[in-house]
Amino acid sequence: MAERIKVLLSEEEVDARIKAIGEQISRDYAGRQVHLVCVLKGGSFFMCELAKRITVPVSLDFMSVSSYGSNTKSSGVVRIVKDLDEPLKDKDVIVVEDIVDSGRTLSYLLELLGQRGPESMRLCTLLDKPERRVVDVKVDYTGFEIPDEFVVGYGLDYDQRYRNLPYIGVVELDEE
Ligand code: IMP
Ligand code: MG
Repeated sequence: MAERIKVLLSEEEVDARIKAIGEQISRDYAGRQVHLVCVLKGGSFFMCELAKRITVPVSLDFMSVSSYGSNTKSSGVVRIVKDLDEPLKDKDVIVVEDIVDSGRTLSYLLELLGQRGPESMRLCTLLDKPERRVVDVKVDYTGFEIPDEFVVGYGLDYDQRYRNLPYIGVVELDEE
């Protein structure tokens, strides 16, 4: 079966939106420093672009989690594959994700990170599929709300491919 990628959000649209979120964060955190926590691998492309658009002092850290289960479905059981290097104590933390789908991964992660004593913690996601929500998660900054379709690009993968696309696309399988 061959795949085609249909553009859902163009490179220009994504870049413009990231710039706007960066400006919003810079206003909201005026006079403070933000500590961005990237959830690998998907959040990495978004976080780098976002960090470039934030004008208050920024520090960065990375963590990697894996949810047990198939690639396209989140089981809700999350395992930390790589933990953060730095403590979160007294930091103004923004967790940066590629997408909130069922909300299971994020709800687990926010609970866990919240126990480490940050001064504040917010969630910023490039994409949100609100129709798919199973667990309630408060999202503070959203790039785009999208319909219930499987998307790739800008960090998001289909079987580890397409993360490097500079736009967001929908995978279409054509039968041959
Ligand atoms: P959740 O726990 O169901 O919210 O799942 C979140 C994770 O599932 C994301 O961080 C992605 O890794 C993956 N995911 C959910 N929807 C998509 C999609 O449309 N494309 C690629 N990955 C997705
Ligand atoms: Mg992810």
